[in-house]
Amino acid sequence: MKDKILQEFGRVFGNAEGAQAYFAPGRVNLIGEHTDYNGGHVFPCALTIGTYAVARKREDRKLRFYSMNFNHLGITESSLDDLTPRREAGWTNYPKGVIWALGEKGYSIPQGIDLLLYGNIPNGSGLSSSASVEIVTGYILNNMFELGISNQDLALIGQFSENNFNGVNCGIMDQFAIAMGKKDHAIFLDTADLSFIYAPIKLEGAKIVISCSNKKRGLGDSKYNERRQECETALKEIQQGMGIDTLGDLNEEMFERVKTAIKDETRQKRAKHAVYENQRTIKAVQALKDNNIALFGKLMNESHISLRDDYEVTGIELDTLVEEAWKVEGVIGSRMTGAGFGGCTVSIVKDEAVERFKEQVGAAYQAKIGYAADFYVVQVGAGPCKL
Ligand code: GLA
Repeated sequence: MKDKILQEFGRVFGNAEGAQAYFAPGRVNLIGEHTDYNGGHVFPCALTIGTYAVARKREDRKLRFYSMNFNHLGITESSLDDLTPRREAGWTNYPKGVIWALGEKGYSIPQGIDLLLYGNIPNGSGLSSSASVEIVTGYILNNMFELGISNQDLALIGQFSENNFNGVNCGIMDQFAIAMGKKDHAIFLDTADLSFIYAPIKLEGAKIVISCSNKKRGLGDSKYNERRQECETALKEIQQGMGIDTLGDLNEEMFERVKTAIKDETRQKRAKHAVYENQRTIKAVQALKDNNIALFGKLMNESHISLRDDYEVTGIELDTLVEEAWKVEGVIGSRMTGAGFGGCTVSIVKDEAVERFKEQVGAAYQAKIGYAADFYVVQVGAGPCKL
C-alpha cells in the first residue's frame, strides 16, 4: 500500500520527493453506545482498515488536498490563512478542522502541506472514517512539525475540531479509540475522566463481523445532537434533587428511584438507555475477563434492544441486520455500532458460521430492504503510525 500511495502522490503533486506515508485506523465499538457524552464507559477497538496518507511540507502557506476515494474532485486547494468550514470543501473540512484546532490549542503550523488520502473504511458506515482522517492529519502534523503532542491529546484535538469546526457534538470515543488503539486489544475507557485499560480480545473460534447497511448517514444532519440534548436536559432534572455530575454516576437501582424527576417520557427512556448501557458495558468487560463470551454476546443483544426501543437510533436497516443475525446458529451476539440511523452492525460469529451468516443475513436484508448489505470480517489493529 505504501508504494501505491507514494506513487499516486507523485502523479497528483508532480513528484514524491521527501513525501512520507502514514496510517490511522478506523474503529468499531463493541459495546457502550451513546454513553461517551454521558460520562459513561465505552469499549471500542481500532481496526486494521483505516486511512492511508502521504504528506509533504510546502514552502508557502497553501494547503492542497487530494483523496483517492473522491478522485473525481481533483485537488482541493485552501490556505493556512483561510481556516473556515465551507460546505463546498466537502471532506477537506476534516483535515482543515484539525489544523484550525491545533492553532486554537496554541500549536501554530508554519508552512502549508500537500496531503493525499486513501481510505479503505466504507464511507459513512459508522466505522469512524472522519475521526480516522482527523487523527491521521493530527499525527502527520505532530510528526512533521515536531509538536510533541501525545496521542491522547491528538484525540482531544480531533474531537475539538469535530465539535467546533464541523459542528457535530460528538463524544471522545472515536478519536480516542483510533489514537490509542492497540493490536488485539479493545479499550475500556471511562469517559468521565479518560482513565482506561486495554482488554485483550482473544475470540478463540470466533470472528468480529461487520455488516454494513449501506444506508448512508451524516452525523451532522442526523438526530445525534438532539439525543445529546435530551440527555443533558434529563440530567439537569435529576440534578435538582441529587448531586451527580453525569448520568454515568447512576446505576440501575439509583435510576429507578430518581427517574420520575424526568418530566417527559421520551427523555426518561433516553436517560434509561444511558444509565443501563453504561452498566452493561462494565458487566460485558467483566464477562470477557471471565472468558464468558456467551454473556458478552447476550449483553450486546440487550444493548441493541435498548438502542432500538429506548434510545431510538436504529431504524429498519440496522434492526433487520441484527434481528436476522440473531436467528443464525453460531452468532454469539449482534448489535448496531456507532451513532446509528444507518451505518453498521457488529456481530461476534463462530468461525464455522461466518459463511452461513453472510448468506442468510445478506439474503434476508436484500429481500426486506431492496438493496444489498456488505460484510467484513475485521481484525483488531493498532493506533496511528508512520509507514
Ligand atoms: C458517534 C460519536 C461518538 C459516540 C457514538 C455513539 O460515533 O462520534 O462520540 O457518541 O456515536 O456511541
